[in-house]
Amino acid sequence: MSSLSHSRVATVGSGVMAESIIAGLLRGKLVPPERITGSEPRPERREELERQYGVRMVASNLDAVRDTDVILLSVKPQTLNKVGHELCGHLQPDQLVVSIVAGANCNVLTNLLEHSQVVRSMPNTPAQIGCGVTVWYATPAVTEEQCGKARTLLQALGTDLRVEDERFVEMATAVSGTGPAYVFLVMEALIDAAVHLGFPRHVAHDLVIETLEGSTAFAKATAHHPAVLRNMVTSPGGTSAAAIHELESGRLRTVLSEAVWASYRRTIELGADLEQGLGLNEGDPEPAGGRRGAQRAAGGSAARRSAGRKSAV
Ligand SMILES: NC(=O)c1ccc[n+]([C@@H]2O[C@H](COP(=O)([O-])OP(=O)(O)OC[C@H]3O[C@@H](n4cnc5c(N)ncnc54)[C@H](OP(=O)(O)O)[C@@H]3O)[C@@H](O)[C@H]2O)c1
Repeated sequence: MSSLSHSRVATVGSGVMAESIIAGLLRGKLVPPERITGSEPRPERREELERQYGVRMVASNLDAVRDTDVILLSVKPQTLNKVGHELCGHLQPDQLVVSIVAGANCNVLTNLLEHSQVVRSMPNTPAQIGCGVTVWYATPAVTEEQCGKARTLLQALGTDLRVEDERFVEMATAVSGTGPAYVFLVMEALIDAAVHLGFPRHVAHDLVIETLEGSTAFAKATAHHPAVLRNMVTSPGGTSAAAIHELESGRLRTVLSEAVWASYRRTIELGADLEQGLGLNEGDPEPAGGRRGAQRAAGGSAARRSAGRKSAV
């Protein structure tokens, strides 16, 4: 029996990610379909989800959340304000809101909804096949029982990692949330290079996908540091050494690091924009932008390291 077996779950905004959660919950028999209600503006989408999963679909967000225990907030960030104002004043004190909305921090969520029991989470795209990783943070008002429910809900998307400091959700947005975009770009570049060498595109595709999948599985199975694994395939004066020299000359590591920092700064900015929309950061003399601002927002690298030890799950 799961911690959600006797709970009623609502999905507010029933798009791609909400569908992944619904599918995962039903696949794992964690919640029966009659206990799931989703809201969605488009009638054809409501019919599609009802037909496919046997869940109840409604047009009104308020109807969806009524008498539910756990509410998944899964609208796009640009829709959050509107939906938040609709829900505000209609949530019961014991209802748990689990948000997956990118950039929406707990300050935004609790103020917008006027509700304190909130979980902020950041899943990633492989969640669509149950292979995602979701980092989540619960506000102090969330009970341990509710945390259990949040975990069960988010595990429908794959692996979950609870953190005790919300800043790690922002950092995770730049690493695991945006991570698939980095991997897909590398994947695409390798496929194009293989086509350039002369492979037919479908063969190039399969070679690259299998190589990435096999390398990941190998790293996971051995638990070796990637440098150890890379050294294993790098013979003196060999082909890998020649290729790696080119990658290092092209500043691959630095570019990746800069990409992660850019994504992190953007996450902080999105949160600040949402706060500004709600009038929450008026009078803030220094918006959190730029690397220094982001570093301060993260408490500096030393603070990050010590916070990291404390908040390991
Ligand atoms: N996709 C990812 O990999 C991923 C990863 C991490 C986080 N997220 C976050 O997850 C959230 C959902 O992403 P998604 O990919 O599932 O987006 P999505 O497929 O666009 O889902 C959003 C859903 O909300 C519906 N909606 C629009 N206006 C609404 C309203 N007023 N009330 C209720 N529902 C409304 C949309 O309906 P219409 O289609 O009819 O407009 C759509 O079905 C986003 O905030 C995103 O930042 C996504």
